[in-house]
Amino acid sequence: MRTAVYPGTFDPLTNGHLDILDRAAALFDRVIIAVASNSNKETLFTLSERQEILRYELKDMKNVEVSSFSGLTVDFARQCGAVALIRGLRAMTDFEYEFQLALMNKKLAPDIETVFLMTKSENSFISSSAIKWAASLGGCISEFVPPNVEKAIMEKNK
Ligand code: COA
Repeated sequence: MRTAVYPGTFDPLTNGHLDILDRAAALFDRVIIAVASNSNKETLFTLSERQEILRYELKDMKNVEVSSFSGLTVDFARQCGAVALIRGLRAMTDFEYEFQLALMNKKLAPDIETVFLMTKSENSFISSSAIKWAASLGGCISEFVPPNVEKAIMEKNK
């Protein structure tokens, strides 16, 4: 069984993440979403809220599990028996950061590959931060997130 770990902050899940996840789930037997508990980002949603959102949206995907981790991503991936880390790539601006992260992870765990999936063009300009920012100023975000995520963001903005 080939397992991949898809790590991230997921604050919150967006249609961009869902697209990457759909495609990763078709490539691997098992995909574990690893929600970072100690991401260096200040988050709008708590760790358990982020996981709850993911579990709700992904309940019909049989080979996808939601988990969380602290510490090194590669250590978590090893514990799961994963052979790969999944990362989505958007515009060129992601490349430098992702390249550095992938090389560092390769040094730390030569046996684990990073697999990059190109984001669909319609998602290439979105990010969790931009969506939260637009929502906080009253912008419509329904095109970028599932309805329940939109509702959860609206609740936070009340
Ligand atoms: N379409 C649209 N947007 C996307 C996307 C896609 N397909 N994929 C990611 N994004 C966005 C996210 O919404 C997020 O936006 P934000 O910056 O506004 O929040 C951004 O791209 C990147 O987020 P994400 O994919 O969640 O990654 P991250 O950079 O928040 O998470 C970790 C990084 C957790 C993987 C990384 O910090 C890590 O590995 N930490 C553990 C410590 C470690 O092992 N470090 C490496 C060795 S030093």
